[in-house]
Amino acid sequence: MSKHTTIDDCKIIDLRKISDPRGNLTPIEGGADVPFDIKRVYYLYDVPGGESRGAHAHKELQQLIVAANGSFSITLDDGKNKKTYNLNRSYYGLLIVPGIWRDLDDFSSGAVLLCLASEHYDAADYIRDYEEFLKYKGVE
Ligand code: TYD
Repeated sequence: MSKHTTIDDCKIIDLRKISDPRGNLTPIEGGADVPFDIKRVYYLYDVPGGESRGAHAHKELQQLIVAANGSFSITLDDGKNKKTYNLNRSYYGLLIVPGIWRDLDDFSSGAVLLCLASEHYDAADYIRDYEEFLKYKGVE
């Protein structure tokens, strides 16, 4: 199934923003705000200027990625087409379906990437070699 996914299956989800003079709040509920049960949360922070992350795809994992603070760019690639998103609001989430290669860069100072994931960590779910990814997607 993830062999046939495309970047058009990924999308920005407008999360709720509960505005308050005391500070804003954005809730995210599994199965409601994201189309999967949330099994894992991780966050990426203290990324040095000019560094990049990602450079892999997942076979099964679905993720919602939020710029909880600051900004960064995510380039999605399905083997045929690419699309770059600049995430810079804490109430936008980028839904990444399985079978999509992602590169993350342009992290601002103090950026915090929050990731909600559909599965527990599993090293076997990763494709870290781009040529292998293209083969997996059936791209010559
Ligand atoms: P990786 O997913 O390669 O990071 P990124 O895509 O952000 O560049 O993970 C980096 C390291 O952290 C790798 O050794 C695996 C480990 N890790 C965990 O142990 N648990 C996790 O949930 C994640 C996401 C990574």
